[in-house]
Amino acid sequence: MVIRRKKNGQKNMIPLAVPNLSGNEANYLQECIASGFVSSVGPFVGRFEQMVAAAAGSPFAVATASGTAGLHVALVALGVGPGDLVLVPSLTFIASANAVSYCGARPWLVDCDPDTWHMDVGLLEQILKEECDTRCGRVICKKTGQRVAAIMPVHILGDPVDMDRVVALAGHFGLPVVADAAAALGAIYRGRQVGDLGADLTVFSFNGNKTVTCGGGGAVVGMREDLLKHVRHLSTTARIGEAYDHDQVGFNYRLTNIQAAVGCAQLERLDHLVARKRWIRDFYGRAFENLDKVSLFPRSVHGQSAAWFSGVVLKDKSVSSSASLRNFLRQQGVEAKPFWKPLHLQEPYRNVPATRQTVSENVWHRIVVLPCSTTVTDLELEQVVDWVYRGVMAS
Ligand SMILES: Cc1ncc(COP(=O)(O)O)c(C=O)c1O
Repeated sequence: MVIRRKKNGQKNMIPLAVPNLSGNEANYLQECIASGFVSSVGPFVGRFEQMVAAAAGSPFAVATASGTAGLHVALVALGVGPGDLVLVPSLTFIASANAVSYCGARPWLVDCDPDTWHMDVGLLEQILKEECDTRCGRVICKKTGQRVAAIMPVHILGDPVDMDRVVALAGHFGLPVVADAAAALGAIYRGRQVGDLGADLTVFSFNGNKTVTCGGGGAVVGMREDLLKHVRHLSTTARIGEAYDHDQVGFNYRLTNIQAAVGCAQLERLDHLVARKRWIRDFYGRAFENLDKVSLFPRSVHGQSAAWFSGVVLKDKSVSSSASLRNFLRQQGVEAKPFWKPLHLQEPYRNVPATRQTVSENVWHRIVVLPCSTTVTDLELEQVVDWVYRGVMAS
């Protein structure tokens, strides 16, 4: 059954991205209730971790309470601490930078590439080669004297970053890589799954608007057993054994059995859900390729995106155009959303180090995200396309 929500007490909206809970979700939740296992101790958590690891192409996975918690604990496990800098793209959801801030570190914001919207690897290289010194194996920002402690590429919209380049650079400078793969489960890069691209740790989100959801949740995956053990330890209040002994300040970041139950049911249908997302992206692609006033979201260059969100980019650069299109669509019963405002324009990150931001500033406000739930019907997609044409032509 597809649930359509009424917004403003009026029309049934075609929603932007709602979960598809038509598999075993209800059965598995019922099992949790019947068994009494509702907390992070419960059989679905281990099963979920195995399924995430398999889907990501990594041998080890640790489920976390959210993607943000996963990013935080991953950074801590890799030694990021107070006073450090972490290289983060400016065009990302604020959680990527917040996880850095939770460590007492600061993000160093890198503009994005105009063709991919990923962190611009040329700028990344320029920062490391020209704006940093390497002393005793540490990378130091010349201007502030702070240590650069990690690189965090973001597989934006589920589209894999050119990780071979990022990993080669990171290796050259001896920097760890934490990949924010929040929406990228199911993506493929040069024939490899997204947890197998050379990052030290890769982090997924399973929040409500993701292709695969637990309601809320995340996971950290990686190739090194010792590192993943450390992530598990830190995310379980750093507790040792049965007695209440804790060897450091850990976090209460574990996923619950209830959330994992939903996640297992979702992951059973991962291929179908991702295929549907790609189909929606292609539907919009065909529909809008000849509409002069818009361009499409970037297409994956090195593999296959998980195609989390789909939409259009208005060629008109005025900030008001995308707002008027969104308002027009809303009046017609189509939920459309703006995209993330780049981090250097966000209050908490106005004063952190940043490269030039010409690309992120040029693109973000022209992006209109369109309905792309896996439950959207073909008829609804046709309606969306029709209204977008009318809205764009009228402007
Ligand atoms: C790029 C990115 N990073 C991090 C997150 C944070 O994930 P969560 O909401 O599970 O904490 C999200 C969530 O939308 C995201 O899109």
